[in-house]
Amino acid sequence: MAYALQMSEVEIARYRMMADRARATESELWEAAGIAPGARVADVGCGPAAVTAVLGELVGPSGSVMGVDTDPNALVAAASVLEQAGVSNATVQVGSADASGLEAGTFDVAMLRHVLAHNGGHEQQIVDHLASLVRPGGAVYLTDVAMSSMAVRPPMDFFDEVNAAYATFMGGRGNDLNAGLLLSDRLVAAGLTVEIFRGSFTIMPFPSGMRPPAWAARDAMAEAGVLSPDDLIRWEARFEALDTMESRPTLFMPGFVAIGRKSA
Ligand SMILES: C[S@@+](CC[C@H](N)C(=O)[O-])C[C@H]1O[C@@H](n2cnc3c(N)ncnc32)[C@H](O)[C@@H]1O
Repeated sequence: MAYALQMSEVEIARYRMMADRARATESELWEAAGIAPGARVADVGCGPAAVTAVLGELVGPSGSVMGVDTDPNALVAAASVLEQAGVSNATVQVGSADASGLEAGTFDVAMLRHVLAHNGGHEQQIVDHLASLVRPGGAVYLTDVAMSSMAVRPPMDFFDEVNAAYATFMGGRGNDLNAGLLLSDRLVAAGLTVEIFRGSFTIMPFPSGMRPPAWAARDAMAEAGVLSPDDLIRWEARFEALDTMESRPTLFMPGFVAIGRKSA
């Protein structure tokens, strides 16, 4: 089933923001997994390569990062993000998360960020494939959400409505928006030893101009009949009003990380 979130400038800005936050909050975990100068890293479901670019910087000229994604629009954005970042040791290509075309057994780390929640029913196939990509002693690094705990305070009805419509839409596609809760189980089922399974909330002022993932899926949601044209107009006006609020509401975003190691 086609990926439902559309690429746009707003989406790329959201990915960049998430990549910056990941770098700030996960660097110790990245290091524990084996992301260091000289490492060979796969970034599966790389999207617009915001994280790929950061990884390229961290592994340095003696290392390399290979990103794959099925969405051609994401790959176009990725090429430009990598060029703008001046990262020359990272490349991106078309590939699916459960059959990437990358060379098996050759990566120090295979990373998968926010992909499982879009692949209901195929999650284990994907994690099994990632396990096949890493060398003996290498690591699979997974991160995903538990969207049911995403919140904003003070409460905003329309924000909850948008997210509820997204949950209905994704559930209808067989996707699990709480895929983050099962990361450790997926690694164990792939034959890996779980070294770290951790969850935390990103708590931040709601950035002006930012939209939740549901917003990037609005066309697909409208097509699926989970929102009406009136909903869209109303929500757009509310987002625009939110953008100009002087006192920023607080956004709470839950995220999980798990690292599984292949025996040496
Ligand atoms: C939410 S984005 C995350 C992008 C990136 N990993 C990050 O965290 O910045 C999910 C990406 O995974 C890609 N994707 C989803 N399912 C995929 C699959 N089965 N194979 C390859 N890519 C996939 C989508 O096209 C999208 O670009």
